Amino acid sequence: MSQESQVTQLPKETITFNLNDRDITVPKGTTVMEAAHRNNVYIPHFCWHPGLSIAGVCRFCLVKVDNRPKLEIACNLQATPGMKVSTLLPEVKEAHKWALEFHLVNHPLDCPICDQAGECKLQDFYMEVGKYKSEMDRPKVLKPKALNVGSELVLDTERCILCDRCVRFEQEVTKTGALGIFNRGDRAIVGTFPDKKIEHNYQDNLVDICPVGAFTSRDFRFKQRVWFLKDKPAVCPGCSTGCHVNVYAKPEVRTYYRVKPRESAVNSFWMCDTGRKTYKHLNQDQRLRFPVATDSAGKRKRVSTAEAVASLVAQLRSVAVQDVALLVSPQYTCEEYAAFFDFFVKKLGVTKVFQWREPTEKLEEFDGLLYRGDHNPNTFGLSEALAKVGLPKDVKNGFDDLAHSGAKLVIALAPEIGFQFPSLDSQFQRLSELPFVSVWTTSAAAYNVQGFKHLLPLKGFAEKRGSFLNYQGKVGELAHPFPAAVDDAHDVVEVVTAVADVWAHAL
Ligand code: SF4
Ligand code: SF4
Ligand code: FES
Repeated sequence: MSQESQVTQLPKETITFNLNDRDITVPKGTTVMEAAHRNNVYIPHFCWHPGLSIAGVCRFCLVKVDNRPKLEIACNLQATPGMKVSTLLPEVKEAHKWALEFHLVNHPLDCPICDQAGECKLQDFYMEVGKYKSEMDRPKVLKPKALNVGSELVLDTERCILCDRCVRFEQEVTKTGALGIFNRGDRAIVGTFPDKKIEHNYQDNLVDICPVGAFTSRDFRFKQRVWFLKDKPAVCPGCSTGCHVNVYAKPEVRTYYRVKPRESAVNSFWMCDTGRKTYKHLNQDQRLRFPVATDSAGKRKRVSTAEAVASLVAQLRSVAVQDVALLVSPQYTCEEYAAFFDFFVKKLGVTKVFQWREPTEKLEEFDGLLYRGDHNPNTFGLSEALAKVGLPKDVKNGFDDLAHSGAKLVIALAPEIGFQFPSLDSQFQRLSELPFVSVWTTSAAAYNVQGFKHLLPLKGFAEKRGSFLNYQGKVGELAHPFPAAVDDAHDVVEVVTAVADVWAHAL
């Protein structure tokens, strides 16, 4: 759901109120916080989150309403006709200072080693409205640190400001209710219920919504300072939901570090932990780093892309078109399928086309939130592309059919997200036993299979332009590529263009 649509469905009736001397018209029932949020007026807050219910516990979003004696919290204040609200008065700023001072009473000063540094709301607000000279003379209350509360999480209860976001996430989004706030006053502490751990596939969303560094990600912890990272929008290739995400990398050292959700109508504010791991295979240690071809003596060797393309065209010319087969994973973009089928099916006339799917996949599975049993981002796009060139569009694993097809030359677009294909290694092995297979892949695993005579390194999903169609046929765009982590990597469109060019000139 978009932020707009997160707001409870309201009657069409609107009201106009005044915010910082500006008249704003919003649907009746809108809170001052929502109205400000939609109109780019920032009201500092910790506990309010557009994807969760209102808790009103941090008391940080104080605003002044004309003709009312006290400051009020904007997150739980309904805008009414003619209301005049200010976020700019000195008394509001002063209240923010004091609210922050109280939040910091027991907060440890471990910003230099905290993973949230650079993305921490407490840090940001302190720089903006901090008192700087604290008036607290009591020692801080110490609470447990580095708790193991889930396979993906570490919890530092000392850093927690008791905003309750994580508790509401557990109750309202995953409905697992594993977290609570226990005790009272300055002994209050966030934690899991006795004998409970956070076990679902959405743990890292707690890291995202925690405004401070209380929840940190086991995967990302201590790996990198966030201000050294660049992020670019992409679409998660982990399943057919196609969550909108941002990929974070350090391009100067060609290293990817994490994936986080990007708000969209597809995934609201969330993504699953499985999807967060889809950056790992992009790093160089897992990549096929150069093209490989086999010389006339049968020796595999590293070659340039041009040589690899020339050797593939030579193979293509040496067999009849009915002996050529294509094996295609549903993990490529619509544009790549269009280029691939245009050349091999429409131009050359190849008719043996098989889908390369994981045999253990259960397409109908769905966890009720986002994660689907189809662990491919573009099953829909592949079906459409097949139909466009007059081939059956049924979703069917054709790996066995290919193995028995008698093909003498196979061109295989291998699955990119290897961890979503548990049978990949055994399938690579079986495939390598066929007469001649050209594997186009991101994966170093293909290089380790000696039987493969021809390998071409591909770009990963974060390194190319194109689009996926999710399970509903909705377009998810890859429009902001990082430079490829591997010099010789190309996308399928680029490889097919090169093959078509050599084919045309070799006539
Ligand atoms: S752990 Fe984070 S999200 Fe949970 S209550 Fe504390 S500060 Fe809020
Ligand atoms: S639900 Fe699917 S698309 Fe969304 S983050 Fe998880 S794996 Fe990626
Ligand atoms: S954001 Fe309003 S009380 Fe926390």
